[in-house]
Amino acid sequence: MPQTTFKTIDSFDVAGKRVLVRLDLNVPMKNGKVTDATRIERAAPTVRELADKGAKVIVLSHFGRPDGKRVPEMSLKPLVEPLSKALGKPVAFADDCIGTVAEEAVRVLKAGDVLLLENLRFHKEEEKNDKAFTDKLSVLGDIYINDAFSAAHRAHASTEGLANRLPAGAGRLMQAELEALDKALGNPRRPVCAVVGGAKVSTKLDLLGNLVGKVDKLIIGGGMANTFMQAQGIAVGKSLSEKDLARTALEILEKAKAAKCKVLLPVDVVVAPEFKAGAPNKVVDSKACPDDQMILDIGPKSIALYQSELAECATLVWNGPLGAFEIKPFDAGTVALAQAAARQTTEKKLISVAGGGDTVAALEAAHVADKFTYISTAGGAFLEWMEGKTLPGVAALIRAA
Ligand code: 3PG
Ligand code: MG
Repeated sequence: MPQTTFKTIDSFDVAGKRVLVRLDLNVPMKNGKVTDATRIERAAPTVRELADKGAKVIVLSHFGRPDGKRVPEMSLKPLVEPLSKALGKPVAFADDCIGTVAEEAVRVLKAGDVLLLENLRFHKEEEKNDKAFTDKLSVLGDIYINDAFSAAHRAHASTEGLANRLPAGAGRLMQAELEALDKALGNPRRPVCAVVGGAKVSTKLDLLGNLVGKVDKLIIGGGMANTFMQAQGIAVGKSLSEKDLARTALEILEKAKAAKCKVLLPVDVVVAPEFKAGAPNKVVDSKACPDDQMILDIGPKSIALYQSELAECATLVWNGPLGAFEIKPFDAGTVALAQAAARQTTEKKLISVAGGGDTVAALEAAHVADKFTYISTAGGAFLEWMEGKTLPGVAALIRAA
C-alpha cells in the first residue's frame, strides 16, 4: 500500500493542537515490569516528533484483554515510566480515557506535553467500536494519529472509529510498517520467497492460501510441514501434525502448482523421542521418521536446499520458526536460514521482512533481527496482512485521506 494513500504527520499543522495518538503499548510485562520495550521504543519517535512540533500529545492504548472491566493488573500506569524514558521527557497520566478525569488532564496540557490515558479496554464500548464512546474520545482531541499498526486488525473505537471522526493520519511507525510490507508483498522485487513455519497449519490456512498466489517460492517448516508430508502419504511418527487437514494441505499444494509457486518441504529432518531440550536426536531422511520419534527440526540437507533457493530470491517475507526453536539444539534450522537471510540482506541482495511474536523471538535468538530489512512489531496484524486481508485500522486511514 503506497503511503501516498493516507495522511501522515506531515499533512497537519499540529502546533498547539490536541493530538490523539493511538499507540500499541500492549507489551510483555512480568511483575509490573516491561520485559520487552520494542513496541514502546518503536512508537516513541512519533510522540517525540509531535511534542517537538508543539502538539499536546494524548496517548491512547489498550493493554491485555480486560473485557470492559477495570482490571488493576492491566492498568497502563506502569507504562508511564518506560514511555517517559523512551521519550526523554515526562509523561502525565489520567486514570480514565474518557469523561471528566480525561478532559481535565487534557485541559491542563501545554504545547509539547505528553499525557497517557488509562487502558481503553476498561470500557467495553472500545472493542464494540461504539459511537457514543468514540464521541467521548474524540472530544479530547483535534487531530487523530494512528501509530498502532499491530492493533490495526481490530475495528475498535480507537483504531477505526476515531479515524472517521477527526482529521486522521498515520504515525511514523504505521508509515514504516506499511512501506515495508508493500515492498515485501505489495510491489516486491522478484523472485519472492515466503517462509512459513510454526506449529499448526490450522492457524495459517488463509495465509498459505494467499501466499501461494503471490510468491514464487514457499518454504514450509515447523509442525506445519509434518501435516503436508503426512498428507502426501509420508509417515511422521510421533510428530505434531494435523491429520484431518490432509485434504486442505493437498488443495494448497494444487493451488501452488497452478500458480507456479514452488513449495519446499524438508528433505531431511532432525528427530528425537521427546520434545525436550537436549533430547538425544538424529538426522533422518524426511521419508524415514521412525514410529517412536518426532520431527523437531529440519536437517542439514534441507538447510542447504532452503539456503540455495533463498539465494536466488530478491525478497523474503518470514513468519514462523522452522523447528522447535525454543529448545536447543532444535533451533539450528531456523538459525541457519535466518543467518543466510541476514547475510544476503547485508550484501544488499535481499529485502527481508519478518513479523509475528515467535518469529521475532527466533530471529532475536539467532542475533540477526537487526540485520533484517524490517521487523514488524505486529503479531496478529502481520498475519492478517500476509493473509491479504484488509486491516480496518489502515482502511479507515485511507478513507480519511
Ligand atoms: C497484539 O498484541 O497483537 C495487539 O496489541 C492486539 O492485541 P489483541 O490481540 O488483544 O487485540
Ligand atoms: Mg494478539
